[in-house]
Amino acid sequence: MISPSLLSADFGNLQRDVEMINNSAADWFHVDVMDGVFVPNISFGQPVIKFIKKHAQKPLDVHLMIVDPDRYVESFKQVGADILTVHYEACTHLHRTIAHIKDSGMKAGVVLNPHTPVSLLEDIVQDCDLVLLMSVNPGFGGQKYIENTYNKIIQLDELRNRKNPNCLIEIDGGVSVDNASKLYETGADVLVAGSAVFGAQNPMETIEKIKGLR
Ligand code: DX5
Ligand code: ZN
Repeated sequence: MISPSLLSADFGNLQRDVEMINNSAADWFHVDVMDGVFVPNISFGQPVIKFIKKHAQKPLDVHLMIVDPDRYVESFKQVGADILTVHYEACTHLHRTIAHIKDSGMKAGVVLNPHTPVSLLEDIVQDCDLVLLMSVNPGFGGQKYIENTYNKIIQLDELRNRKNPNCLIEIDGGVSVDNASKLYETGADVLVAGSAVFGAQNPMETIEKIKGLR
């Protein structure tokens, strides 16, 4: 699957870009929420997501890069999040947060920063609908893919096959037509792509191309 990241969309023409994704081979909308505290950048919050939801015809995959995400779980559900992912590094009571997301009627996922080992998921993976591995340090689009992510995908694939085969593996950061095929082969199920899609001459064709590499 492919989940184009709206962080690289043209915010002045957001409806146009949302409709482009509606009409493309994309599976989800990747929606990056940044608070300027957990990550050194601020993106957008619930009012913008509410507008995206109004036009989006595919699930909203909302990636929270914020401290204390528990406080906002219901509000993201209210504005239309279908999948809500929270950072391992931002949750003191991760098990409770995951249960909270599911109880609110959304799919729940955990995100790991590049330095956070997959082994820390041993006792939470059974509760996750997906795990998102950051393949760049979160905060900005257009960064270089970190090669060690392949090793983490192999470890995560082993872990989920053992404990929760239904858990999806999503990769976020530096994904392009050059590494998509190897990522899918290694075990990734969902690829997020921001600059590779919106920076392309033909975004719709690029979405199809990345998806076709699996
Ligand atoms: C980074 C965000 C990503 C970002 C990816 O913190 O989580 O979703 O949009 O952008 P690219 O695909 O350009 O690396
Ligand atoms: Zn993201």
